[in-house]
Amino acid sequence: MSISIVVLAAGKGSRMKSGTPKVLHEISGKAMIFHTLDVAQKISDDITVVLSYQAQRIQEAIEKEYKNIHFHKQDTQTFPGTGGAMKGIESRYTKTLILNGDMPLITQESLQELTHGDADINMSIIKLNNPSGYGRVIIEQNRVQEIVEEKDCSAEQKITKTVNAGIYCVQTELLNRYIPLLSNNNAQKEYYLTDIVKMGVDENQTILPIYVKEEEFKGVNSKLDLATAEVIHQKRLKEQLMLLGVTMRFPDTIYIDCRATFEGESILESGVSIQGASHLNNAHIKTNSVIEDATIENSDVGPMGRIRPKTHLKDTHIGNFVEVKKSTLTGVKAGHLAYIGDATIDKGSNIGAGVITCNYDGKNKYKTTIGKNVFVGSDVQLVAPITIEDDVIIAAGTTLTKNVKQGDLAISRTPLKIVSNFFYKFFKK
Ligand code: UD1
Ligand code: MG
Repeated sequence: MSISIVVLAAGKGSRMKSGTPKVLHEISGKAMIFHTLDVAQKISDDITVVLSYQAQRIQEAIEKEYKNIHFHKQDTQTFPGTGGAMKGIESRYTKTLILNGDMPLITQESLQELTHGDADINMSIIKLNNPSGYGRVIIEQNRVQEIVEEKDCSAEQKITKTVNAGIYCVQTELLNRYIPLLSNNNAQKEYYLTDIVKMGVDENQTILPIYVKEEEFKGVNSKLDLATAEVIHQKRLKEQLMLLGVTMRFPDTIYIDCRATFEGESILESGVSIQGASHLNNAHIKTNSVIEDATIENSDVGPMGRIRPKTHLKDTHIGNFVEVKKSTLTGVKAGHLAYIGDATIDKGSNIGAGVITCNYDGKNKYKTTIGKNVFVGSDVQLVAPITIEDDVIIAAGTTLTKNVKQGDLAISRTPLKIVSNFFYKFFKK
């Protein structure tokens, strides 16, 4: 743990074309910078995040989820650029690893590779066929000689395919000496962190290129990059889950939030979306169903079911076009076309097609409580708040507005009238 980490996240991220700060855009349900911080926390207990643009919003979001992160406000007016971002940073340990907040795919293994050894600077290099947009790295005899930013490149330098991925591990002592010496004498009038390499070369320091995977180190700059990164992240996540015993049919069509957890043997059919911190234990989720922040144990849902936040299903069957919200169902069957909201339903109860819990009067939400072995017939409206005790039948078509006692039948129907030959009279046939 004797390494300090600095996460650069003060850039504007203008290519995202978004009112939301770049690093708070989500990959698999979690802000990009949280992915970076998760990995950072595994190798360091001295982490500083550099902020400027929308600093308060980002800091608040981080502080909600993480403890012991330091924040550093960059003065981007006076000291713009990645070098400016490092001004005034104090590292506790002898090595400092500099990360970017927009690299959500970075893994612990890759970072460990970058922090190994005793070079003065380890810097991350990607080989790209199309290097445009990146600083080009001139390497000779496996030592970095120079980094030239694209806007400062000569025609010859522009075709260099080894580029700076933007992650460095530097002896803190060098950073402390070099950062105050940076100037903004370049095409962008910015303080370039990359100039520490030039200073290191001048002093004969060892600057090692560490070749890293493009997939992990490519930064997210646009919403196109965001979607591409999420596909990669999803693929990783699903591979891990399948190896842990989750069955997936056509995994490329499935979305799983990285906060979701799985136990036992669950099956996810095609087009399923598991959102939020859902928990699935021996669950069978059928085609095109959506699960949001819900717990599903020994139950099946769908096809085309929607299970919304704070729902807990246990030993339950939920069929097609059934929506369940903030409800606890234990040993229940609801096979078709129903809305169950703010309800508790107990063992052996059956919810017919078209049943609706009328849980909202336009101002407040109310609870529906249904006991054991209750048979709720088709097309019943349960006007909450309402309680149905055990062993009750609610006849089809009933609008239930009163509580029902154990063993009773509730039925509300307008009397049926049949008028003979009315059709022929009406149409004068
Ligand atoms: C930088 C490198 C370039 C490298 C590229 C890799 C420099 C001068 N150039 O380019 O060699 O190929 O990264 O992606 O460092 N940031 C701040 N404060 C700032 C500016 C940026 O904190 O004033 C942060 C950004 O939020 C981002 C990171 O630094 O996380 C990189 O910034 P970005 O603008 O993408 O770097 P480039 O200048 O494009
Ligand atoms: Mg830039």
